[in-house]
Amino acid sequence: MKIAILASGSGSNLQTLIDQLHLDTNSDVEIAAVISDRPKAYALIRAKKVGIPTYVVQLKHFPDRNAFDAEISGIIETHEVGLILLAGYMKIFQPSFVRRYRYKLINIHPSLLPAFPGAHAVSDTLDYHTKISGVTVHFVDEGVDTGPIIAQVPVPVFDDDNESSLHQRIQAEEHKIYPQVVKWFAENLIHVDNRKVIIKPE
Ligand code: GRF
Repeated sequence: MKIAILASGSGSNLQTLIDQLHLDTNSDVEIAAVISDRPKAYALIRAKKVGIPTYVVQLKHFPDRNAFDAEISGIIETHEVGLILLAGYMKIFQPSFVRRYRYKLINIHPSLLPAFPGAHAVSDTLDYHTKISGVTVHFVDEGVDTGPIIAQVPVPVFDDDNESSLHQRIQAEEHKIYPQVVKWFAENLIHVDNRKVIIKPE
């Protein structure tokens, strides 16, 4: 199965997907394209190092959001990917894009949704002083971090945590659960009934 990954930043999740799936000869998951909205994203370097085609698609180079989304769709269609993963991608898609790839577009988020959606989940968690945080992997819908939840992993919050220490603990779990969800998807084990996602054989 070919997948595309969209990333805006460091790409540590991309790296685990490269290591655990793309480079694993026992896995038939191939990362066919990495797309970023930031030319300096380290994710692009990680992809280039292993020969994965990379694309920089910046909103400022397009007349409007539709044209921007169409460019990304074009890359996805060219590579005939069956799954699109967001891994620290900081742009919101238009509803038409989300509808086109419904149940083929997955995001990873550093909190136990529906708590703390949005771009500042880790600092919002610390400001609220919850005792537990975690990771959510979910299908993308038209809202911000509101789509059907595929998997969640809890992570403790410690009294002396700062944003970096908590995010590091969360990312250690991200790096295990994201490749696992991709394997489930590739094996056709993910079934969706409205908001309810069940992992089971056919
Ligand atoms: C992750 O924490 C993910 O949950 C969030 O953005 C971060 C991306 O990290 N959506 P990285 O670029 O994969 O290291």
